[in-house]
Amino acid sequence: MEHGPGADSLPGRHESFWIETTPETSYPPLPGNLETDVTVVGGGITGITTAALLKRAGYAVAVIEAGRICHGVTGHTTAKITSLHRLIYAELIDRFGSRQAHQYAEANQAAIETIASLVREYDIPCSFEPKPAYTYAESEESRDLVAAEADAARSLGLPAAFVEDVPLPARTYGAVRFADQAQFHPLKYLLHLASLVPGDGSRIYEKTRALEVQDNGGRCTVRTALGTVTSRAVVLATHYPFYDAPGFYFARMEPSRSYALGVRLDEPFPAGMYINADGPAHSWRSQPAVDGGELVIVGGMEHRTGEDVDTREHYRSLEAYARSVYPLRSIDYRWSAQDYLTIDGVPYIGPLAAGHENVYIATGFRKWGMTNGTAAATIITDMIQGRANPWAEVYAPDRFKPAAAARRFLVHNIDVAEKYIGGAISRPAGDLADVAPGEGRILMLEGKKAGVFRDREGKVHAVNPTCTHLGCVAAWNSAEETWDCPCHGSRYDADGKVIHGPAVKDLKQRGG
Ligand code: FES
Repeated sequence: MEHGPGADSLPGRHESFWIETTPETSYPPLPGNLETDVTVVGGGITGITTAALLKRAGYAVAVIEAGRICHGVTGHTTAKITSLHRLIYAELIDRFGSRQAHQYAEANQAAIETIASLVREYDIPCSFEPKPAYTYAESEESRDLVAAEADAARSLGLPAAFVEDVPLPARTYGAVRFADQAQFHPLKYLLHLASLVPGDGSRIYEKTRALEVQDNGGRCTVRTALGTVTSRAVVLATHYPFYDAPGFYFARMEPSRSYALGVRLDEPFPAGMYINADGPAHSWRSQPAVDGGELVIVGGMEHRTGEDVDTREHYRSLEAYARSVYPLRSIDYRWSAQDYLTIDGVPYIGPLAAGHENVYIATGFRKWGMTNGTAAATIITDMIQGRANPWAEVYAPDRFKPAAAARRFLVHNIDVAEKYIGGAISRPAGDLADVAPGEGRILMLEGKKAGVFRDREGKVHAVNPTCTHLGCVAAWNSAEETWDCPCHGSRYDADGKVIHGPAVKDLKQRGG
């Protein structure tokens, strides 16, 4: 990725450790029209795991990926395999009742074993390691929340306990600790799993962007620029569904970005995976580095996608936070990821909607995609086989809890959409001459609103910043040098090319 001087001033190489330490794949693009049993759109953890499970069950599967598999959100995770999702269980019991909260707990704890058993069955070398997970309190107030979470999780059958000692050199007030959790190198795991998919009628296609889905009562067609894929069922494993026939999901999820640094310490990192309970999320874990040493991944600083702020500050704040806990020997990597939050904090997994029973979605993982994505693959594989799944109810996309929080969320999202469609937040500012190398901003060019980026060689890249999805105005993301849409999280490079849906069409160029 191209960097302006501003982005160059940030700490670490701008690359995911997972992507840098695995070979690039070279699956072919779709060669033309195709018929298969199941089409999986999206090659991240949900798509690849679904394809592997369906193939094992005897189905012919076609995986369609717009770019390279595992280079999207899955390639930019912190890769904790845990059912400890910061603080969620006390809230789930309150909101859904014990029975459905138990379904969520069991689905995520079972996902750890699903990954472990696939690693064992296929002998996948992916640094899979059992580790405990902690959510720690940083204040007296949150100590009670953490203790309540331990009680709630234990009541649901999870391996939870409240502990006083947290082995991090930070001021803490106890933690909820889950035993029997794990970590791994997600791309080593998934690329191996993906290599098992092709054959016996199953295939993976890269550089093939899905543009449209039609569900004609059990005969579904996915249209791409390179041909169509026809099948009995389609799994949309693209995070935000680019196809929203009921027109409902677009108001029910919020896109959110978060940041990670890969750092080196002068001392060993304590065994475990950690996240705080208070304020902005801060997450820690370690990972064997290629040189035999240890990389420590510190993450957090989440915010709504497309906020009109200088996103470089999030990396800087994360660095300052990391340095407040440990003296850092070096900062080797930096990367960021995007995920979606649902109204009630639980993903949507299952049939898209009534009348679209053969199109399945899995989205809204709230940053806990390793286990929720694996659970989604299990649930959808069961559904396609016509088998009952014990966790499907809590994840049902057509659930709706008319709680006050849900109404507030909807009102907030509609309000945000109106502001961004009107461009009230991304207002044009200044002239072309004011745009420094490495800077991007919205301004007026020849009487039209333009998103302008001047690269380090001084070349101007100018686009129409109106998102091709539903028309909100994209904002410049200075840390990643992309145009990000605040409404549903579509992202485009500096020349307007789509790098993250739900948009499927590039931004138009403006003369610059
Ligand atoms: Fe929906 Fe931009 S992502 S309007």
